[in-house]
Amino acid sequence: MDHFEYRDGELHAGDVPLAAIAAEHGTPLYVYSAATFLDHFHRLNAAFAPLNPLICFSVKSCSNVHILRLLAERGAGMDVVSGGELLRARLAGVPAERTVFAGVGKTDDEIHQALAGEPDRADPGPIGLFNIESEPEYEVVAAAARAMGVSARAALRVNPGISAGGHAYVRTGHAETKFGVELPHAEALFEKFAREKHLRLCAIHLHIGSSITDPAPYAQAVSKALALIDRLERKGVRIEALDLGGGFGADYTSGAAPPAAVFAAAIVPLLESRARAGLRIILEPGRSIAANAGVLLTRVLFVKHTGPRKFVVCDAGMNTLLRPSLYNAFHFIWPVSVSPQHVPPSRRESLDLPGLEPCDVVGPVCETGDFLARDRTLPLLARGDLLAVFAAGAYGMSMASRYNSHPLPAEVLVEGALARLIRRRESPDDLVAHER
Ligand SMILES: Cc1ncc(COP(=O)(O)O)c(C=O)c1O
Repeated sequence: MDHFEYRDGELHAGDVPLAAIAAEHGTPLYVYSAATFLDHFHRLNAAFAPLNPLICFSVKSCSNVHILRLLAERGAGMDVVSGGELLRARLAGVPAERTVFAGVGKTDDEIHQALAGEPDRADPGPIGLFNIESEPEYEVVAAAARAMGVSARAALRVNPGISAGGHAYVRTGHAETKFGVELPHAEALFEKFAREKHLRLCAIHLHIGSSITDPAPYAQAVSKALALIDRLERKGVRIEALDLGGGFGADYTSGAAPPAAVFAAAIVPLLESRARAGLRIILEPGRSIAANAGVLLTRVLFVKHTGPRKFVVCDAGMNTLLRPSLYNAFHFIWPVSVSPQHVPPSRRESLDLPGLEPCDVVGPVCETGDFLARDRTLPLLARGDLLAVFAAGAYGMSMASRYNSHPLPAEVLVEGALARLIRRRESPDDLVAHER
C-alpha cells in the first residue's frame, strides 16, 4: 500500500522518522514518499504493459512540481486542466506531446498558452492532445489554432452514460453532468471535424469518475467507445487514440482498492488487438498513484469536552485537507508516536485495541463542518501530540486553501534517507503580498 510504517512505535516514511521531519519543518505539513509514488506508477505501467499506454499523471491530484518531475523522469505524461497546471507540467520538464489538456472551462489565454508551446524548448509545438468537452469549445480552439497557424490534435470527451465512482460529486460519466458530449452527438462531431487541418478531432476521451473500485464500469465504457470507433471507421473516420481517463480507487482503508492488475484484467483484453493495430492508449490516473504516497502531519492544540463529546482540536483542518468536509471522506488518523499496544494492525474506521476513546478530530476553522474525522476512536491524546492523517497525498495539498487566512502548509518529499523540503511554508506576509 505504502512506505509509511511504525518502527518501535514511531511512524517512519522509509527510513526517516516523521516526528523528526515535523520538528524541523513544523505543522501542518504534507510528507510524501517517493518510493510509494514510484511503486504505484510502476504497478500501473506493468499491469497495462500489453497496451503500451501513455500514463498521464493527473496533476490536479498532487501538483507540486518536484512530484511531477519525479514521475516525468520515469516517462509519465501529464493530464492538466488549467494554464496553471500546464505551467507546472512544463516546469517539471514534461514534453509537450506527453501533455493532455482537459476541463470544461478553458479560457482564451489558456488555449493560446497550450497551442503556442514554449519557443525556447526542443518541442515548441502545441500540447499532445486537447480533450474537448463541447462543440462550442471545439470551435473556439480550432479558430485559435487557425489564427495562430498551428496544427493540433484533439480528443472529444464522450459521456458514455455510466454512473461510477465514490461520492456523487466525483461521478462524471452519467447523463446530466457538465462533462463531455453524449454518444450520438459525439458521432456527428467526429464526422464533422475529423479532417479539420488545424484541430484534427482524432481521439476519444473518457473519464467516468473517481474512487472507482469495480472494473466493470470501465469495461462497459470501453465497449461503448470501441463500438463508436467501429461505426466511425465504417464512415471513413479513423480514431488514433483512446484516453480512458483516471478514477482507479486508493486504499483509504487497508485493502479497499483493487490493485492495478485487477482493472487491467478487465480492460486489457478489450484493447490489446486494437493497441497492436496502432490505437494509442492513454491513462490519466491521479488518486491511485498519489493518495497513499502522502500523509498530513498535524499537531494537537487542545483537547476539549463539550457535553458528551470530546474534541481533539488540531492545527490542520478543512483549509489543509478538504476531503472530509467536502465528501465526508474517511482518512485514517493515528498518533505518530505510540506505545507497543497501540501500533495499528491495519487502517480502518475502528480498531479493536485497548484504551481507545471516541472523539472528533477537528481543525481551527470557524465552521462546524471543519473536521478531519468524526466519532473516531483514538488513543488518549494531549496538547502537543503529533497525528498523521493517512492517504492524504491526492486532493490534499492541491485542494488546500487559505481560508480564515491560514498560510498554506509546507511539503516534504522523502527519498531514501533524505527528507527534502519541496515547498516552503507560506508566511503571514505571503498571505497579504498581493494586497499591498
Ligand atoms: C479528466 C480527468 N482525468 C483524470 C482525473 C483523475 O482522476 P483520479 O484522481 O481519480 O485518478 C480526473 C479527476 O477528476 C479528471 O477529471
